Amino acid sequence: MAIYKRFQNGGVPEYLAHHYWWAYLWPRSIWFFDHQPIINAILFGQYEKLMQKTLAHVERKPGAKLLQLTCVYGKLTPSLVRHTDNEVHLCDVAIGQLELARGKTTDVADRCLLTRMNAESLGYANDSFDQVILFFLFHELPPEARQHVYDEIARVVKRGGSVLITEYGDTPRGHLLYRFWPTRFIIGHLEPFLPSFWQEDVTEKLNAALLRQGKTLAGEPKIEHCFANFYRVMRFEVGA
Ligand SMILES: C[S@@+](CC[C@H](N)C(=O)[O-])C[C@H]1O[C@@H](n2cnc3c(N)ncnc32)[C@H](O)[C@@H]1O
Repeated sequence: MAIYKRFQNGGVPEYLAHHYWWAYLWPRSIWFFDHQPIINAILFGQYEKLMQKTLAHVERKPGAKLLQLTCVYGKLTPSLVRHTDNEVHLCDVAIGQLELARGKTTDVADRCLLTRMNAESLGYANDSFDQVILFFLFHELPPEARQHVYDEIARVVKRGGSVLITEYGDTPRGHLLYRFWPTRFIIGHLEPFLPSFWQEDVTEKLNAALLRQGKTLAGEPKIEHCFANFYRVMRFEVGA
């Protein structure tokens, strides 16, 4: 039996077990990757910058309800919860990831609510959140799963709310890491869905999903580039 099959149980999506068991599901890897220097190295030294740029866009309006769609390694989640006084919901399909997140948020557990859910079919009601936050999730999803997640974001975000996405940029043709074929090969090998995400028009996909819910984007997204456009932080406003 292939190793990954051991991790494909209890509702864990096939692509997650198949391509990322070694990153998110194996207890030893959960311990290993959740070290700040490791996660910073994976983001080519840009972790702090990306986290600060993301936090700057987190909704702090009193009473707003936030959803962080899936767990992340490092200090983003505890920082995010402490950055706002608002309720932050966090869901993930991997129990080990939720346990890790809980360990970092025990002091704010009353307003950091963790739930085990598949991001492709959320259990939240329509129009539940003032802001939905994704930190490097999309590029790890195959195109079909990505489409389901766009649809779920559009469903659960409120009119007048926002969507905050920190991700890789568009195909970085001018970037050294892309132009140098061995690094492009390694990145594409470790992140098999990144090449298709590089080509995706995130604004168009999100707006199309919103339109299916009778909602729409309000104006142009705010986009901040990082590491010579290799990464980006995007904030989208949803029309009231
Ligand atoms: C946010 S992404 C990557 C984040 C980034 N590499 C980091 O750790 O900082 C990783 C998380 O997404 C979760 N995940 C992937 N697909 C999912 C899905 N369909 N539903 C819920 N969680 C999912 C994984 O279990 C993992 O905890």
